[in-house]
Amino acid sequence: MEVGKRVLLIISGGIAAYKSLELIRDLRRRDIAVRCILTDAGSQFVTPLSLATLTEDKVYQDLFSLTDENEMGHIELSRDAGLLVVAPATANVLAKMRAGLADDLATTALLATDKPVFVAPSMNVRMWEHAATQENMSVLQDRGVQIIGPEEGDMACGEYGMGRMAEPETIAEAIESFFLEAHENIGQRSDKKLAGKKAIVTSGPTHEAIDPVRYLANHSSGRQGHAIAKALAAEGAETVLVSGPTQLPDPEGVTVTHVKSAEDMLAACEAALPADIVVCAAAVADWRVANPPQEKIKKNGTLPTLDLVENPDILAKISQKGKSRPALVIGFAAETEEVVAHAQAKLAKKGCDWIVANDVSPETGTFGGRDNTVHVIDSETIEDWPTLSKEAVGQKLASRIAIYLEKKS
Ligand code: C5P
Repeated sequence: MEVGKRVLLIISGGIAAYKSLELIRDLRRRDIAVRCILTDAGSQFVTPLSLATLTEDKVYQDLFSLTDENEMGHIELSRDAGLLVVAPATANVLAKMRAGLADDLATTALLATDKPVFVAPSMNVRMWEHAATQENMSVLQDRGVQIIGPEEGDMACGEYGMGRMAEPETIAEAIESFFLEAHENIGQRSDKKLAGKKAIVTSGPTHEAIDPVRYLANHSSGRQGHAIAKALAAEGAETVLVSGPTQLPDPEGVTVTHVKSAEDMLAACEAALPADIVVCAAAVADWRVANPPQEKIKKNGTLPTLDLVENPDILAKISQKGKSRPALVIGFAAETEEVVAHAQAKLAKKGCDWIVANDVSPETGTFGGRDNTVHVIDSETIEDWPTLSKEAVGQKLASRIAIYLEKKS
């Protein structure tokens, strides 16, 4: 996890507090650490134990707790995170924020912080529409507080209207965008960790022609490979993405070569070499049809036979020893059983430096899905990563690559 990718989540007392559990899970999935402050009223709706379990951290509740002060004072608590988020934010806590009151740990942290603050209001429609609340919101907004929601809908009190807390996914997306932007701003400074390095990433499936209109393919969406290319570019690497056919837009800041077949993909990689880093994330078809006909195969009562030949192994070729071998070659191993054991065998067979292994059994939803649960394997270690969004896997991998190359140089 990157330094600063931490949220201090303040949970005040509204019925929507139960949604904070879902919000924490969503943030962890995006590789964002969460530490909670639970107000007295908030603790009527969710327990400190469930928050501590999901955040894997201590939950802070008291302003005057000697243990807390020994471990982490309220000033430090409010500044240690990259962002403060109040969700749910009740009318009461919003009014206190506007007035600058500091009569409990939550409001004290909000007053003491030097970090940006997001609030996700949650209250009855009449309270939301009240002039006092509206005035408070506009003052807070002028001070730079970002407001997420609320949304219109049925309320727990039986009424209908504006005041429902935004869905956890909406809040998590806003938080992730904040950190992405902060990360990109860091990238614009001179401390890009991969500046001066060149990377090649393969992504997506390949299409192997059967005839001019039909092809052999697989379910790869290309999301993981594209996310890795984007993350490497954001760290300052000159990045070439060699992509098989996907539905995805070209990632920003990346030079993209679009290819169809495995042979085209190999040629495009060879044209892009030399490089410092190569990540082969494409699901390259193992076989192609030998000599596909120029004309469409006709249905004429007899079943056609497909004469298959093996495709070149791009990863193995690039991994071959030699003077111009990239400093770091990374392969992927999509497995449906004995994920780690198969990946270790693949590491040795292909001669690459790391293998990123994942379980792509249909029930995991990895193929085409937004999340990935990977193990990063090299000749010495096996690192089990938690389930993360594919974007977060890309960023974490880019950071690991930067640390490795730094140590190697
Ligand atoms: O052998 P397998 O297809 O399971 O290996 C997966 C790894 O090898 C991935 O990194 C994939 O991109 C790469 N590969 C390749 N060329 C092939 C087959 C796989 O680069 N023809």
